[in-house]
Amino acid sequence: MYYPEELVEEVRAKNDIVEVISGYLKLQKKGGNHWACCPFHNEKTPSFSVSGSRQMFHCFGCGVSGNVYTFIMKYENYSFPEAVKVLADRAGVQLPETEYNEETRRRENRRARLLEVNKEAAKFFYYQLRSPRGRIGYEYLGKRQLSDETMHKFGLGYAGKNGAELVQYLRSKGFEDELIKEAGLASYSEKRGLVSQFWNRVMFPIQDSNHRVIGFGGRVMGEGEPKYLNSPETPVFDKRRNLYGLNFARTARSGNIILCEGYMDVIAMHQAGFTQAVASLGTAFTPEQANLLRRYTDNVLLAYDSDGAGVKAALRGIGILREAGLTGKVINMRPYKDPDEFMKALGKEAFEERIAQAENSFFFEVRVLESQFDMNDPEAKTRFHREIARKLCEFTEDVERDNYLQAVADKYLIGIGNLRKLVVSYASQTGLARPLERPRSGVQQRNKPEENARKSQRLLITWVTDEPSLYEKIKKYISAEDFTEELYRKVAKRLFQELEQGDYNPAGIISMFEDEEEQREAAALFHTSLPELTTGQEREKAFHDIVLAVKKNSYEYYTAKLGTDVNALNQVIEGKKALEELARTHISLD
Ligand code: UTP
Ligand code: MN
Repeated sequence: MYYPEELVEEVRAKNDIVEVISGYLKLQKKGGNHWACCPFHNEKTPSFSVSGSRQMFHCFGCGVSGNVYTFIMKYENYSFPEAVKVLADRAGVQLPETEYNEETRRRENRRARLLEVNKEAAKFFYYQLRSPRGRIGYEYLGKRQLSDETMHKFGLGYAGKNGAELVQYLRSKGFEDELIKEAGLASYSEKRGLVSQFWNRVMFPIQDSNHRVIGFGGRVMGEGEPKYLNSPETPVFDKRRNLYGLNFARTARSGNIILCEGYMDVIAMHQAGFTQAVASLGTAFTPEQANLLRRYTDNVLLAYDSDGAGVKAALRGIGILREAGLTGKVINMRPYKDPDEFMKALGKEAFEERIAQAENSFFFEVRVLESQFDMNDPEAKTRFHREIARKLCEFTEDVERDNYLQAVADKYLIGIGNLRKLVVSYASQTGLARPLERPRSGVQQRNKPEENARKSQRLLITWVTDEPSLYEKIKKYISAEDFTEELYRKVAKRLFQELEQGDYNPAGIISMFEDEEEQREAAALFHTSLPELTTGQEREKAFHDIVLAVKKNSYEYYTAKLGTDVNALNQVIEGKKALEELARTHISLD
């Protein structure tokens, strides 16, 4: 946090959300709320509502919501501290002097200092690239067909041949050697003292989703090892939890995210207008990154290299996406190696077509599998069919599994009855899935179990904030720990603390998060549509079901973590007791 929490809250409270948003949109009062056409998506009839009593906004069309900070950040494209500043000015609240603030940060905030030194280094590289000495880098990027605009957008730079210059520059800006080293920008050698880590490379600053430079990748110009040199992990550079290009992709609103392997791929894609492209950071795609993507889309297109390594990485990626409850599809780049080369050779329209033809991840997996067996050999063919059966067992939902079974049987000309038998036998041998029943319908259930679990958690929070008296009735069964999504848990923890003290404030809770997307996700917790039920009995049943669903999910979550998480055992014991008690308890809504 740049500013103390109380100050952030004071500024928020002094900026009435209805007044602030009126400065941007023409609001119309209807019922308890104010309405306008949503500024964040295209619409003709107003579904954007601002609530004075809750001090929040919410769009029923596209789902954005948040408090007054979120609005300013989204509308003006400001960072959190910038939004605080603007609103403090507006309300005449004095913020601590920036100089003084800078000074305190200097002493106290290592993270902020690391971000600063990175930013300064990025500037240095940026200017080097555009200076006579950086000509070689500039020409290299030009040869790779990057426009000036693209180079500027991604802040590309050049690290010169004199490794002492960067260090001198950073020292002159007041950064101490220790920090420069810690940021991974330079290392110490007996002979030459502190010298730049990056030497004669074109530089790719890596930004987090708030456009802050957290590390660098540097590419040799031409042949050389390593091809890319990346900053080491530092307190601000967590390679597992960030994605290259996400700072732009997050606002692309294209309905999908394209996951590439390399920095150059991302840049080439953005240059061609596919601003939804991202890449992992010199390491394999991680579950943490999948979770990050889940905030923006549930539709991920893999644009990995078409070589063997790329296919392997895609297979891994598909598994991770599936775990995270995301749908993965694979874009075929052949005959080209990667998106960068594809774009150069065939261009944008051809890539659009490839997106439209992207292959369902299951069929991709089966196709890769097929290439490993000799279909002319009956025995190999049988093994291939068995492998398909094994893969089909990974679908835990009957309907979904059977849909895939039919499709794959069609495509590979396998007798459907035989394949079904193989699946049943595989499933019963391993206990992986229940034997298949007859297909019931062709309709696929849309929601994955994890999504249902999250939904119950959202419903519970919305309902309790709508009727705070319910908190007393559920607190015996439900605690913040039962919220299995990290962000939900944070919100629940704070909300329950506040309810405990008898006064709660959702709009304030949202400003615990500095990231606009996190604010939005937190705000959505207070805006889930509750079931429309008329009778008291129906309402009581629905509420009871939600509490039960949250508890049950938490119980299963911690059961799965037994053995790796010290907290899990307690939660499991407590959860079991609560579940039994809930099963025979009536929660009255009066
Ligand atoms: P690629 O070798 O596919 O690079 O590695 P690329 O993006 O196509 O690069 P160009 O087009 O040759 O310039 C993909 C990614 O793997 C990481 C980098 O993040 C790179 O973007 N990588 C690769 C490294 O970290 N170090 C390396 O030596 C090579
Ligand atoms: Mn490439």
